[in-house]
Amino acid sequence: MKKILQSLLVLSSLTGWANEAPWVADARSVASSIPPKLLQVLTDEIGKGGPESAIEVCKEKAPQMAKAASEQSGWSIRRVSLRNRNPKAVPDSWERNALEEFDRRAAAGENLSKLDKGEIVSEGDKKEYRYMKALPVQQICIACHGPVDTLKPEVISKLQAAYPADKGTGYSIGQIRGAMTIRKAL
Ligand code: HEC
Repeated sequence: MKKILQSLLVLSSLTGWANEAPWVADARSVASSIPPKLLQVLTDEIGKGGPESAIEVCKEKAPQMAKAASEQSGWSIRRVSLRNRNPKAVPDSWERNALEEFDRRAAAGENLSKLDKGEIVSEGDKKEYRYMKALPVQQICIACHGPVDTLKPEVISKLQAAYPADKGTGYSIGQIRGAMTIRKAL
């Protein structure tokens, strides 16, 4: 039985059914745990002091949550975007491909809340589990990631001060803003 399961696992990763492998379920649950928490903190803070005061929260809380979840789960976790705001949120080539694939799948009408990708990636003699979960733009995101001419002047000036090379504006609802990206050595 174990043999059969093992060969099924190998087969699934070879045939591109990797999304169904057990490690993908684990990755999916780790990556899915952060966005709702962040959304809650963002909603609370925007309610209290408007988007201009929530920028700080997003800047400090998002990396903190990723760090805590990394320590708890053993997966290394961060966020990336094809049009990054944080200068460190630049995707590597595997992530870039996945983000471009998400854009195509979103344009083709796939369910945005389920848009993800898992793959076993080899580089030299290193093998890794890699997983990404798309972060679609919702109404609340527009206050800080929408077209610049629609943002509050206070938001624009805070963003300019903190992120002089910001590329993370100009989005509309239903587009993919970026992704949670998580990886673990195999
Ligand atoms: C209050 C303003 C604000 C709101 C609302 C907001 N963001 Fe952001 N977002 C930011 C800031 C500031 C950063 C940079 C954080 C950092 O320094 O890591 C950021 C970074 C990101 C990143 C990381 C990649 C990058 O470009 O640096 C993603 C992905 C992202 N936001 C998605 C979203 C999504 C999806 C929503 C809506 C659910 C959202 N954001 C709502 C302000 C906001």
